[in-house]
Amino acid sequence: MSKEIETHELLNQSTNEPFSSVLDRRLKRRDVMRGSLQIAAATMLGGFGLSLAGCSDDDDDNDGSTKQPLTLGFDAILGSKTDAIVVPPGYTAQILIPWGTALNDSISGWSESLAFTPTIQENSVGMHHDGMYHFPLAEDTASSNFILALNNEYIDQAALWEPQGGPTTTSPRPADEVRTEINAHGVTLVEVKKASDGSWSHVENSPYNRRITSATEIGLAGPVAGSDYVITKYSTDGTKTRGTNNNCAAGYTPWGTYLTCEENWPGYFVKTASRYNDDDRLGIESSGGRYGWETAAGDGSEVNDEFGRFDATPSGATAADDYRNEPRTFGYIVEIDPYTGEAMKRTHLGRFRHEGCWPGKLVEGEPVVFYSSHDSRNEYIYKFVSDAVWSASDANNVGGTYDRMAIGSKYMDEGTLYVAKFNADGTGEWLPLTPDAETPAGGTLAAALGLAADDLAGVIINTCDAADIMGATPMDRPEWGAVDPASGDVYMTLTNNSKRTAEGVAATYTNSGTDIDDLGVGYATAPVNAPNPRADNENGQIIRWQEGTASSTTFEWEIFVFGGAVTGNDNPSGLTELNQFASPDGLFYDQRDGEEGILWVETDNGGNAVADYTNDQLLAVVPSSVSGNSNSPSVVDQQDQSNLKRFAVGPNGCEITGIFTTPDKTALFINVQHPGNWPSSSDATAVTSGTVRPRASTVVIQKADGGQVGV
Ligand code: FEO
Ligand code: CA
Ligand code: CA
Repeated sequence: MSKEIETHELLNQSTNEPFSSVLDRRLKRRDVMRGSLQIAAATMLGGFGLSLAGCSDDDDDNDGSTKQPLTLGFDAILGSKTDAIVVPPGYTAQILIPWGTALNDSISGWSESLAFTPTIQENSVGMHHDGMYHFPLAEDTASSNFILALNNEYIDQAALWEPQGGPTTTSPRPADEVRTEINAHGVTLVEVKKASDGSWSHVENSPYNRRITSATEIGLAGPVAGSDYVITKYSTDGTKTRGTNNNCAAGYTPWGTYLTCEENWPGYFVKTASRYNDDDRLGIESSGGRYGWETAAGDGSEVNDEFGRFDATPSGATAADDYRNEPRTFGYIVEIDPYTGEAMKRTHLGRFRHEGCWPGKLVEGEPVVFYSSHDSRNEYIYKFVSDAVWSASDANNVGGTYDRMAIGSKYMDEGTLYVAKFNADGTGEWLPLTPDAETPAGGTLAAALGLAADDLAGVIINTCDAADIMGATPMDRPEWGAVDPASGDVYMTLTNNSKRTAEGVAATYTNSGTDIDDLGVGYATAPVNAPNPRADNENGQIIRWQEGTASSTTFEWEIFVFGGAVTGNDNPSGLTELNQFASPDGLFYDQRDGEEGILWVETDNGGNAVADYTNDQLLAVVPSSVSGNSNSPSVVDQQDQSNLKRFAVGPNGCEITGIFTTPDKTALFINVQHPGNWPSSSDATAVTSGTVRPRASTVVIQKADGGQVGV
């Protein structure tokens, strides 16, 4: 196995070209890519009445119809550093379902002094809003009345426990504090509706209002389900677990289900003895879970090891007697039927710190594709390709008798998981993560992992190790993806990477110890490579790639735009005061009927020159309006600056995340997570005076005249 690892290191170092050389290759490749992709896409789309956008530079989509050019219809706004949302003139921004909003009348509603209990939190909107999506209740009201599915990623303990002066931090933590925190995590499902005056509200007591928390029973599906890897005292046949955790970005399926993604879940578990390689590779804590939930174990009120399960240290005779495998029931894409609340972890999409999950271009008769990303430094980008081919009869049938989870099983439990390798010449490869995949060293992946020849569950449990061995490219923290549904262009944010080292500096490994002859290599640091060309990358970039068909194992890629600051000298895309940004995170491709689409970009920035200028923000660009020129390092370059526009800025302390537009495009929904001192009224643009108990919230942005947003 050391040979595999050495090969991996060499493969990465082989791509360490000088930055200038890389950029030159990229540019030539982009010219080739535009021409060939346009022809290929036009051929593919010809039979489906779809039209081409994205990589194309012009409006002629080669299928006989003309896609209308789209122009952003607002003036870019300046940066802001206030306790308020800022939007362009002519727009409104309304607070909707902030943390603690009562979902039903069984509990007391929100007040500044509300003391949360497990029951109150379980019946209220969860904390720290992140990814979200909308699910219609009827076709004709799809833009004014729907189920909003919303991730509640983590918690602000100071705000949660403000009435009592903060959380109890002594050990053991009180059982009801832990239960409340567990219930503040997970997913909120809530019916929302628009009134005739254009204002939005949630429907209290709607039968669709539900919480799926870090305690809710959830089934396991796919290769890992029923395997020895996930046998626990709670599920001795390895078919279920409790809870979903640290749900970050979101996705959706064409059959009308929600995808929620388990990101920084390893920090919630603790192990006090050396255990599995995958623990170390993923970062299970060795002393103290994130909020100390495990410390409540043994409380007289504890039911079914509800707290003890967060300590994965073996304590019983076998896996069926303890929770050594509990962390192996996390790290997945979770599919939820928003209409029924049924939930299932779809293990075939891999096990890691999943940021999010996005469907690829959908074509009748071709496999269904999902892209996903591992948000840690020097981790990877993945895609899953279904065995079953898409049938339009499986599309969401609102109001019909319809087993969405059975359809989910059809497209998500059987297929192939791949990991991305990016070559310096602008090409890329999808490397299969199957037991029989041939490794760069020539053996099988199963053998390299020390697994039985047909142990697909073992490959999935050890997804990261498998990707290491196959030679995946370590990326600058992959966050959200977005897909142009017409062209199939895929965009993904690479948010930043403080562990990207300069050219020629050898990689180091997270789990190397004195001998890297064990599994779990993982890059602690990695030298610059073509898609990640900046050392100590504090501003991030957005990458774009294109594949021929859903089942292609090759692709072509380019850097769409680099984050950068107008001060200093790290601004390769030539950004200006009106669009400088750093740490791109959320993304949404907003397809407009018969027109080109808008790519919306959200940021989650830390301390740097851009943060000195503005709070986190939302930008917009019509991809076909930016093209670069023969000297530009990215698609967006100096000549394109007026077409990449800052649209909104969040309040102090927050990140902007979660995004969709209603089908009629008159409302844009975003989330404000971890604000410092906001909101103070239902008007999200009101500047907080004094001090409020901060609440993450959904914000609905609309035009005052009721027109489409962004144009
Ligand atoms: Fe939860 Fe990677 O952001
Ligand atoms: Ca994120
Ligand atoms: Ca982030």
